[in-house]
Amino acid sequence: MNITVLTGSPHVNGSSNLLAKQFIKGAEEAGHQIKVLDVAHMSVHPCIACDHCHTAGSCVFQDDNQKIQKNLLKTDMIVFVSPIYYYMISAQLKAVIDRFYGYNDEMRERHIKAALITASDDDNDDAMPYVEQYFGKLCRYMNFTNCGSVLGTGCGTPEKTLLSEHMKEAYQFGQAL
Ligand SMILES: Cc1cc2nc3c(=O)[nH]c(=O)nc-3n(C[C@H](O)[C@H](O)[C@H](O)COP(=O)(O)O)c2cc1C
Repeated sequence: MNITVLTGSPHVNGSSNLLAKQFIKGAEEAGHQIKVLDVAHMSVHPCIACDHCHTAGSCVFQDDNQKIQKNLLKTDMIVFVSPIYYYMISAQLKAVIDRFYGYNDEMRERHIKAALITASDDDNDDAMPYVEQYFGKLCRYMNFTNCGSVLGTGCGTPEKTLLSEHMKEAYQFGQAL
């Protein structure tokens, strides 16, 4: 299947991207085609709720989101990759999700598969339940099939991440798709 990986960290070689690379390695070995969109380094203006998308049929912001939208409307699976910022995904990734507002119905009709990969400094159980719950809700609302998550607790630096069991977990997750 065609898998689009949306990476939401400003750290190109950071922890969440290390986990994403492991996932990609496994998924490619399993025969899937991967497209990575580094949304943290793309220009995506936050939604301003002007409803222009619904009244005039297009977004007032002509930015990189057009490219993201085009990809997501033909992909079979989206993998959301993010560092944990105050118990949630990064603002860069959230901006992309908020812009779904302009093509919500088209997305919902497609029953896309979805997965979540995150990295947090905290290594206790309290670090991730909020983002996991948010992702579950998002999947239900968007008609995404929730394929699961790699919740990279204790992945506060690339060095820690490289030593973490989550590297193998991410690889096996991709391989098992
Ligand atoms: C603005 C900001 C907020 C953060 N909030 C949290 C947090 O709530 N919990 C946590 O465990 N780590 C938090 N961290 C640490 C990052 O999640 C952690 O360093 C992660 O490994 C960064 O991933 P990256 O290298 O993929 O960007 C925060 C870091 C920043 C910069």
